[in-house]
Amino acid sequence: MKTVQERLKLLPAACLLMICGQLQAAEVELDPSDWGIEEGKECVKCHTKTSAGLAEQWRQSRHAEVGMNCLDCHQADASDVDAIQHEGFTIATIVSPKDCGRCHVNETEQNSSSVHANAVSLITDRMPVMAANLGGKAIIDAGCAQCHGSEVKVKGDGTLDTATWPNSGIGRINPDGSKGSCSSCHGRHAFSKAQARDPSSCMRCHSGPDSPDRAIYEASKHGMAYFAHKEKMNLDSDSWIAGKDYVSAPTCVTCHMGAAGKLPTNHDVGMRNAWNLNTPVSEKQYLVIYEDGDKSEIPASQPVPDRGTEHTKIDGSLGKVKVVVPPDRRRKAMRMVCLECHGKNFATSFMDQFDSVVDLYNEKFGKPAQSIMLDLYDKGLLTPAPFDEPIEFTYWELWHDEGARARHGAAMASPNHTWWEGIYLVSRNFYSKFLPQVRAVAGDEADALISRYVTDVKEHHGWLDNPEKGNPILGYGTRKSGDD
Ligand code: HEC
Ligand code: HEC
Ligand code: HEC
Ligand code: HEC
Ligand code: HEC
Ligand code: HEC
Ligand code: HEC
Ligand code: HEC
Repeated sequence: MKTVQERLKLLPAACLLMICGQLQAAEVELDPSDWGIEEGKECVKCHTKTSAGLAEQWRQSRHAEVGMNCLDCHQADASDVDAIQHEGFTIATIVSPKDCGRCHVNETEQNSSSVHANAVSLITDRMPVMAANLGGKAIIDAGCAQCHGSEVKVKGDGTLDTATWPNSGIGRINPDGSKGSCSSCHGRHAFSKAQARDPSSCMRCHSGPDSPDRAIYEASKHGMAYFAHKEKMNLDSDSWIAGKDYVSAPTCVTCHMGAAGKLPTNHDVGMRNAWNLNTPVSEKQYLVIYEDGDKSEIPASQPVPDRGTEHTKIDGSLGKVKVVVPPDRRRKAMRMVCLECHGKNFATSFMDQFDSVVDLYNEKFGKPAQSIMLDLYDKGLLTPAPFDEPIEFTYWELWHDEGARARHGAAMASPNHTWWEGIYLVSRNFYSKFLPQVRAVAGDEADALISRYVTDVKEHHGWLDNPEKGNPILGYGTRKSGDD
């Protein structure tokens, strides 16, 4: 295994530019003779009567302005699995990224190799039982799949299976094999970039325990500045470069995909993230980019492949490694965004504060709780079935709900979510629920487990041996007798 220093030497100088997306294929020249199918005017005519609102959304879009109509997008080959015969036309209801990609090559390539495109496998590989055990199939269809995406199934006659459609989940697996759904961010039928730049396009999925970013952004100074100055954000502008076309506030898009200085816009939202903040214990992540454009993330504790070698991708197939981007390069790309509106020391110090919260969470709570749970399963003190015992819910909420909220809060500058809705709740769960439940489950073996992973770690839990003089909880907010 190579050291980090050695690995860095394997990086071509162009790597940071790579992360910037500048080595991507140039946008194809869009040629008006490629659209405006004459027969498509029939769709508009009839749909103006049958679904007037839908037709009007299209009429107000940039697509209508340049002369594109319904058939340019909904056209299908009779051989497509989801082709239907409709009023004398062969069409498909789903217009997949592959269809949009006929004209929008770059956005489609970036989107389909992004973490977003793997959102369905997240459910099936990482969390196969949660929805099934606690909810049921109806929840997977109307809950998880609405954000993550479904595998859309087609019935014999080309119509779509109602359990698997509609949804505009971010990693939806389409009948043509392509992944994602462009209308998850670009609401139809306007397909506007101004609307997608607004934080609301991300927040509808990035809210709640799986991804508490909505509440965090609203509570941050960035959210404050955005909502106060929205009219100065220039969302309609053709060019939208932070620090140049707008300065009032960054949105989700600014930091995770937008252009800033020399950093161009990119439809892969994961490029600039150094950590994985949604795991029981966070680790910094290398990004592996393959010759064919696919990507994988590898935790920093695992061996990193060399350039030019074969490596197993997320889906199990082999890919030839083109570049390996270490976490600090990804961080650097994120920091380039901050530097448009903040000083270097400010941005670096903020990142230090953020990393320290992640380290604290990991060392004080994440790793001890994970080690104890592994031991409890190993010793047969818990049944192998997840979520049939109280401690399994406690552990889940500890890392997944408040644990992730604290880490996201620190990443995106909401002190409320870092502490009160974050580490405070982690700590309360850990000391007042998790450890008592460990004692209940492990009986005689509990003391050994708890001292090994908790009380012996004096740096974090030494306070348990050193009761304070006096009790601040009793004193706080109450008047001492005799004050009158
Ligand atoms: C003569 C009228 C008429 C014409 C022409 C027409 N449509 Fe429709 N279309 C309808 C009606 C009616 C429906 C069903 C409305 C409903 O779902 O309630 C429909 C449904 C649809 C659906 C939804 C299918 C589904 O899976 O539920 C799509 C997509 C669609 N039309 C696209 C088109 C396109 C593209 C064209 C032009 C090639 C077109 N339509 C031409 C009347 C028309
Ligand atoms: C830029 C491409 C594009 C154009 C142009 C377009 N559509 Fe669509 N349409 C889509 C996409 C994307 C979806 C979402 C389907 C999905 O992926 O679930 C959709 C969905 C639909 C649906 C089913 C969803 C619903 O809300 O009922 C109908 C009906 C429909 N389109 C009709 C039309 C008609 C009529 C026109 C012309 C007035 C039109 N479309 C123009 C891309 C397009
Ligand atoms: C409101 C939209 C939404 C719903 C509903 C939803 N998720 Fe998620 N989920 C997300 C988002 C957004 C992320 C990305 C979190 C991140 O990277 O910060 C995510 C992340 C995950 C992850 C990765 C680890 C984690 O928990 O953060 C798993 C596994 C997961 N979801 C499974 C599920 C399952 C199973 C269901 C249904 C029982 C579900 N999700 C329902 C939006 C949702
Ligand atoms: C995660 C949300 C999201 C998804 C999914 C998404 N987009 Fe976008 N898209 C945006 C945002 C935000 C912008 C504006 C970016 C900017 O200006 O920095 C944008 C801009 C665009 C533009 C305008 C580019 C320009 O420079 O004028 C096109 C074209 C586009 N997207 C196509 C697509 C296609 C095709 C897909 C599906 C393959 C897709 N988008 C999926 C969020 C998204
Ligand atoms: C036949 C070619 C073609 C197809 C297919 C197509 N588009 Fe477009 N799209 C265009 C053209 C042309 C423009 C206008 C570009 C410009 O403004 O210079 C455009 C503009 C856009 C914009 C920018 C709109 C704005 O606010 O300025 C978005 C976003 C977009 N398309 C998304 C999509 C999505 C999503 C799909 C698939 C559902 C799609 N397009 C399918 C040709 C196409
Ligand atoms: C339709 C739901 C949906 C929408 C809309 C959406 N996301 Fe996501 N996002 C997800 C899910 C689900 C995941 C987890 C996927 C995974 O990790 O494979 C995710 C993951 C992410 C991640 C984590 C990447 C990483 O490195 O792990 C970021 C950052 C992100 N989204 C940003 C955005 C931004 C910015 C927008 C708006 C422009 C947006 N998302 C819109 C559902 C959505
Ligand atoms: C000021 C810049 C900024 C803004 C605004 C911002 N983020 Fe973030 N976001 C970050 C940083 C920095 C991280 C941590 C990156 C890392 O892992 O090093 C992060 C982390 C995330 C993650 C977790 C990714 C992971 O690695 O698990 C998601 C998901 C996310 N952001 C989504 C959003 C959404 C949605 C919004 C808007 C509601 C938003 N962000 C607004 C900077 C920002
Ligand atoms: C488009 C401009 C813009 C970008 C880009 C931007 N910020 Fe900000 N940021 C602001 C504004 C405006 C404020 C509010 C300033 C104030 O009044 O204190 C702010 C405030 C903050 C604060 C709160 C400071 C305080 O005094 O309470 C932090 C922390 C912060 N930003 C971090 C970041 C980080 C980290 C990044 C990059 C990931 C970033 N910002 C990117 C504009 C930006």
